[in-house]
Amino acid sequence: MSVVGTRPEGIKMAPVILALADAPWVEQIVISSGQHQQMLEPILDFFGVNCNQNLAVMRPDQSLASLSARSIEAMDAAIAAHRPDCVIVQGDTTTAAMAAMAAFYRRIPVAHVEAGLRTYDLHNPFPEELNRILISRIASLHFAPTQGAANALHAEGVAEAAILITGNTVIDALHLAVDKSPDLPFDVPEDRRIILVTLHRRENFGDAITSVCAAIEDILMAVPDAHIVWPVHLNPRVKGPVETRFGNHPRVRLCSPLPYPAFVAMMHKAHLILTDSGGVQEEAPALGKPVLVLRDTTERPEAVTEGVVELLGTDRARIAARAIALMTDPSAYRDMARGISPYGDGKAAARIFKRLKRYLF
Ligand code: UD1
Ligand code: UDP
Repeated sequence: MSVVGTRPEGIKMAPVILALADAPWVEQIVISSGQHQQMLEPILDFFGVNCNQNLAVMRPDQSLASLSARSIEAMDAAIAAHRPDCVIVQGDTTTAAMAAMAAFYRRIPVAHVEAGLRTYDLHNPFPEELNRILISRIASLHFAPTQGAANALHAEGVAEAAILITGNTVIDALHLAVDKSPDLPFDVPEDRRIILVTLHRRENFGDAITSVCAAIEDILMAVPDAHIVWPVHLNPRVKGPVETRFGNHPRVRLCSPLPYPAFVAMMHKAHLILTDSGGVQEEAPALGKPVLVLRDTTERPEAVTEGVVELLGTDRARIAARAIALMTDPSAYRDMARGISPYGDGKAAARIFKRLKRYLF
C-alpha cells in the first residue's frame, strides 16, 4: 500500500508508485488521505498516478489533533479493507505518521521513503520532526536520501541491514518534469529578474510571515528590476496575510499553488529563491538556483555545506541584506549558483523498487 496525502508526498512518491505500477510481483494499492484536498490532485494527474481510494480527511484550517484523529481512523479502515503486506509512507507529514501508526497497530511492516532527516529540535519543523522520529521507530525498511540521513538512523540504533541510501526521489520527479520541457504558467516581464517565494511552515505563522513580507518590500525598494513571483499556499494562515500585504503590488505576482511542471519552469526562470519548503531546498540546487531558507533550522544540511543554500531564518534585516547582496553582487551570486545536487541522481525509485522486492520475497 503506497500512501500519499500532501503535495510533496505526491511528488516524491510518484516515482516509486510508477516503478511499482508495472511490476508483475506486486499488486499496488494507492491510498490518498486527502490531507491536501486541492494541492495534491494536479500533481497526481501530471505523473499519471491513480488512487484506489481517497480518504478525504482535509478540513479548512485543520488542527493537528483533529487531522491526526481523522487520518489514523481512516487509514486503519483502509488497511483493514486491503490487508497489504507492506505500507510505504514518505517523509514527515501527519498522513505519513498516522499511516505508519495504523499499520503498526495491525502489525503490518512499514517502509519509509526519505528516512533519517533530523534537526534534533522537536519544535522546528513542527510537528514534522516528531512525525519522522515516530516513523523511524516503527519502520522495518528505511530509505535514506543521503549518507548523513543514514548516519542519523544508525546513531539511533536502526540496524544497518534495514537502511538503504537511495538518493531523494524528488530528483527522480524533477527529471521527469524537466524532460517534458514545461512552460511557464504565465508571462513574466523580460526586463526584470524573478525572485520566487514560497512559505507554508506552521512555525512561520504570524510574526515570521509579517517579517518576511517586510523584507520583500525592502528588497523591491533596493533592487528596481526585482520581480516577485509567489505561489501562495492555500492555508488561510498564509493566504490571508500575504494577500493583504501584496494583493495590489505592481512588482509582486501572487498566484495559486502551481502545478508541478509549471513550478519547475518557474524555478528555472527564477534568479533567486526564498522559501521555507523542504522539497524546494532539494530541487533548486539541482537547477543551479541559489536558495535562502526562511527557517532557523534545516534537516537538509548537505546543500548548506556546499554553499548553494543558506539558512537565514525570518529576520527582516537579515533576509533583505542577503537577498539584496545576491541581486547586486555578481560574484556573490556566482558562488551560490553552482548547480550542485547533493540529494540524488534521479535513480532513487529504482533502488527502492529492488530493495522492496528483496524484502517481500
Ligand atoms: C502539510 C504538512 C507539511 C508539509 C506541507 C506541504 C503536516 C502536519 N504538515 O502542511 O509537513 O510540508 O503539507 O505543503 O502534515 N489547504 C487547502 N487545500 C489544500 C491544502 C491545504 O485548502 O489542498 C488548507 C486547508 O485550510 C488546511 C490548511 O491548508 O486545513 C493546512 O493544511 P495542512 O495539510 O494541515 O498543513 P500544511 O501547512 O499544508
Ligand atoms: N511545488 C509545486 N507548486 C508550487 C509550490 C511548490 O509543485 O506552487 C512543489 C515543489 O517543487 C516541491 C514541493 O512542491 O517539490 C514542495 O512542497 P511544499 O513546499 O508544500 O512542502 P515541503 O517540501 O516543505 O514539505
